[in-house]
This record gives sequence, structure tokens and C-alpha cells, in this order.
Amino acid sequence: MSPLSRRRFLGATLAAAGAVAVSSVAGCANGNPGIRDLGASPRPLAIPPLAPSTRDAAGRRVVELVAAPGTSSFLPGVATPTWGYGGLPFGGPTVRVARGDDVVLRVTNRLAGTTTTHWHGASVPARADGGPHQPIAPGATWEASWRVDQPAATLWYHPHPHGQTERHVLRGLFGLFLVDDDIPAALPSDYGVDDVPLVLTDRSFAPDGSFDEQHRNSVGLLGDTVLVNGTIAPYLDVTTTRVRLRVLNASSARSYRVAVDDEAPLTLVGTDGGLLPAPRTVTGVVLTPGERAEVVVDVAPGRRRVLRSLSHDLGAVNGVTRAAGADDSFDLLELRPAARLTTSPPVPARLSRETPLAEGGRTRRFVLSNNRINGRAMDMSRIDEVVPAAATEIWEFTNRHTLPHNMHVHDARMQVLEPDVPAGERAWKDTVAVPPSTTVRALVRVGPHTDPEVPYMLHCHLLRHEDDGMMLQFLVVGAGQRAATTIAGHDHG
Ligand code: C2O
Ligand code: CU
Ligand code: CU
Repeated sequence: MSPLSRRRFLGATLAAAGAVAVSSVAGCANGNPGIRDLGASPRPLAIPPLAPSTRDAAGRRVVELVAAPGTSSFLPGVATPTWGYGGLPFGGPTVRVARGDDVVLRVTNRLAGTTTTHWHGASVPARADGGPHQPIAPGATWEASWRVDQPAATLWYHPHPHGQTERHVLRGLFGLFLVDDDIPAALPSDYGVDDVPLVLTDRSFAPDGSFDEQHRNSVGLLGDTVLVNGTIAPYLDVTTTRVRLRVLNASSARSYRVAVDDEAPLTLVGTDGGLLPAPRTVTGVVLTPGERAEVVVDVAPGRRRVLRSLSHDLGAVNGVTRAAGADDSFDLLELRPAARLTTSPPVPARLSRETPLAEGGRTRRFVLSNNRINGRAMDMSRIDEVVPAAATEIWEFTNRHTLPHNMHVHDARMQVLEPDVPAGERAWKDTVAVPPSTTVRALVRVGPHTDPEVPYMLHCHLLRHEDDGMMLQFLVVGAGQRAATTIAGHDHG
């Protein structure tokens, strides 16, 4: 069947399916089906394997990733066609690199269509960024290489093909990308044991078992089933008194407020771009799509705790809050501590000694409207901004729209200017929520890599908004470099 006739066939099935086959799809007010209670008995949390790496003759660390279709079984007896990296049917292995490594990432595309692989949060040369200008044709292998030079952080990778990101990520193309650097030894760091990745995604299922890719609202595509590392209703056996959770929101549109039990205190130690200067006690962390947080949770022998997502305020009017999934509350993960636990050291009082970004660079203003930035839609042949290499600037995002948006800047580390947060306590970000009718001002530091012809992206990370054109392009140039004003030879097809 051609892709087109398959789509028609699915559409017809959905229309005829009625309430019984897919209550999830049939009953979605505001395009938010709510979270289904599957009555599922908890299942062990899947931990994404670490991606194997080799050293080449030049001493570079080489990681090979293959993107390919597969089949997953999330619901008992239901086969779901999915895509994955590194031999996994859904999701990808965790890539782990260290600061100072020369890395080579080699991505082979075994899908039927063109994809790309973007290293979200990484400071990389523009040609290695994996955005829409670095397509990987079916059957082709693309190579990205750079020297890792950024602090320890929980980054991630995912496709970024022009106008197609939502579909590729939804099918399962995403993975974590961890950067190691000197961090306090007392932070739990035994991968999969007391340092545990949690990739949050939500999906709904069509009657034939495939993911529902159609019933989106203006915020995007919400699922009625939450998958953590691809597992429905997971539990984790805990063997230490503290566990560090690295949480990534890889969902298309849903935001989460990650909390423990009924808002018991938990310790926030890191955000998108790295560790906080000092741990912060919080009762929950809101993550919009693309954002990450590292939290440390204390457990006592034999006493179960539940990681949950609680309803939260996105600063939007009611119907929109619902459409963004923000008024749903549901369990994410049950923590099952053993009867005897190994005592973990206390979380250190100092986590990172990085110098905060200095204020004072030039200001750029971005006004967010209906899936447009400064009134413009993404144009792959247009350069929107030119930024000097390694500059620190103030980027001001004003949301004049009724919908929540967030802003992600490639190649950059950001610190949000909150007047009540002293400079020495600001968190490192690369994706920031911009609620309706607000302005978020952020210090933005772009990387040292220059390229007068290949741009980086700035966009909303609600994937449908991004695909609809809520994205601009910027060049990072060195002194004396002449920035291109247009990108020639690009074909929009
Ligand atoms: Cu997570 Cu431009 O991407
Ligand atoms: Cu990115
Ligand atoms: Cu948006």
C-alpha cells in the first residue's frame, strides 16, 4: 500500500470504529483524552542501554546509531509499528561522552524517508548540529564530529527534518545524550542503578495498534497513555538511600509537573544545561516539551514512593490548560526500595562552580504569535539573525498568543533573568517556557563554533508548532566573517 492509501485506510477505520474500539480517541474534549487508567499491574522500568562506542586510530570516540523501523508491544497483545535507534524498536540507547572527548557520531538511516539527527543542548559546529540542513537520505550515513566542551549535563537527541519532527519523534526516535565532566563524587552516578534516566512520552493508540497521529488540538498531540522509557506503569527497584532521576520530557505537547507522593520535598540538582550551583529543595518541577531536570529522591527501606505528574498552571486560560494536558494528574513511576539499602552520601552543598553569565550584551526581541516568531514562519533559505561567536546576549521572548509556547535555542546555554534570583543561583537552560501574555528574558550564550553559511535554529519545542513554522534561523560568525543573507540551493519539497 502506498503511504497515501494507508493513511486513507486508517482514516476510514477510525471513522467507523465507534466508541468501543477506541474510547481514547472517541472521547477527547479539547483534544485532550485525559490519562487512561489501564489498571495495569506495574512492570519493571526499562532502562535504555548505553550506546557502545569504539576508539578510532586518531583516538576519537566513535558512536554508530542506526535509525530503523521496528515493532513494539506496549499494550498486551497489541503490536505497534514504531521507529528506534541502535536496534531498539522504540527510543534509542543513551549516548555517553565526556568533556574533552573528540566524538564522531555516525547515523545511518534505514527508514523509508529522509530524517536528521539533532543533538539537543550540545555545543556543536553548525554542520554537526543535525537540524533541517543536514538531511540523511534513506540508506545514507551522516557523520557529525566535534570536541565536547561543555559541563556535565543531560542532553538528548532526536530527528529535526523540515516540517516532520513531530512524526519522527512520535514514532520513537529519541534518546538521551549524557555529558560527563568533573562533578561532586557524592552525586549518585551508577547508571541504571542510582542514576536513572526517565524519558516521559505520551501516546494514544489507533484501533489497529498504531500510534494515533491525528487527533491533535491547537497545543499539539496529546496521548492518553504515559510511557516512561517506553514502559507503561513502571516500577523501579531501589537499592540505595538516594536515587538521582534524570527526567526528560520527550513528549510532543504535554507538559508535566514532576513531584513525589503528595508534593513531598525533593532535591533539584540540575536542569537542561547542567548542574545547579547548589541543590534546591522543591515540591515539583514543571517540564514543557524538550526540558530536562535532575532530581534526587530520598527513600527509606521498604517504603514505596510514587513519582507523579501533578496538575499545574501554564499561565493559560482554562480550556488551553486542559488542551496542554496541564490539569491531568497521574502516576509516573513507583519507587520500590529494598528492605536493606546502601547508604548514599548526602547531596553536596556545592554542585557546580561555573561562572554565571554576565549581563550586558545586546538585546534581541522575539514576539511569539500564532505559530510565528516576529511575524515570520520558518524559511529554510532565510537567515533571521547573525550572532557573534561566544557572545552572551539578552534574548527577550514575548508571548502575545493565548497558547503556551516554549523557546529552544540551538548551540546555546541560557540563564533566565528572574529578578528575584541572584546571578550565582541561576539554572542552566536551553529550552524555556513562555506562558501567554508574558515576557521571558534570558541570557543566551552561543558556542565558539563559527560558520557564515550554515545556521542554527531557534524554535518552539511544541513539536507541531515547530513543524508549522514556529522557527527562525541564526548564524554564529567570527570577527571578520561575512554572514550569508540567504541559503542558496535549498529545495522546499
Ligand atoms: Cu530538541 Cu531544535 O530541537
Ligand atoms: Cu536543539
Ligand atoms: Cu508553541
